[in-house]
Amino acid sequence: MSRALKYDIPGTDWRRTSLDLAESGVEGLFLDSKTISKRIVLEVGFGRGEFLLELARSAPETAFVGVEVSYKRVLKMARKLAFAGIENVRLLEGRGEVIVGELMGDACLAEVWVNFSDPWPKDRHASRRLIRPSFVAEVVRCLTEGGVLHVATDDEVYAEQIDQVLSAEQKLVNDFEPDRWRSEVPGRIQTGYQEDWLRDGRSMHFFDYQKQMKADTGVVS
Ligand SMILES: C[S@@+](CC[C@H](N)C(=O)[O-])C[C@H]1O[C@@H](n2cnc3c(N)ncnc32)[C@H](O)[C@@H]1O
Repeated sequence: MSRALKYDIPGTDWRRTSLDLAESGVEGLFLDSKTISKRIVLEVGFGRGEFLLELARSAPETAFVGVEVSYKRVLKMARKLAFAGIENVRLLEGRGEVIVGELMGDACLAEVWVNFSDPWPKDRHASRRLIRPSFVAEVVRCLTEGGVLHVATDDEVYAEQIDQVLSAEQKLVNDFEPDRWRSEVPGRIQTGYQEDWLRDGRSMHFFDYQKQMKADTGVVS
């Protein structure tokens, strides 16, 4: 029997809309708090939200934005944040490609996390994968200099594609060089899906790429 979805938010509702983002910019989503810094971190596709919750708890003065395409997951996460009394997260329902590519300003994000985005294993669906050159170029535009894009996948074929896309982006530098990716990153918070995949004995692929400083290349815009 399916459990009824609960719509009430037991505290402050930290959901915001794409319109809020378009009108006020990402910094504007946090104007209602004086204690949250201007260091803004984005997670795309937070799923059940375990990772984002833990990240937000571990850095209460950092501003976190979670983007999820699923209405139900955004609602459940809004309830979790309210239950936990966490105030440094804002939630946006939408596609990461649109939020990042069309609504997020330049050089406003210190970090972007994309954990276990859907691998779309069938060849004919491969174009739906989130990590593709156009999306990564938009992430780079949104990152501050020295900002970091963190990506994780359990899927070996997708890992190869992620490696190709990220290593081809000239404004990014692989923090894990000479490795293409790492199967373990000490201290990295586990995500909900990661826990499931580890129980299934699947191997992990973690990528950290940093946006180059202007002084390094002279060409980063
Ligand atoms: C495989 S789950 C991983 C969830 C979480 N990151 C984790 O590791 O536990 C992928 C999540 O991304 C969301 N998603 C899929 N496509 C998306 C998109 N284009 N933009 C934002 N979220 C998306 C799905 O609704 C789902 O919650």
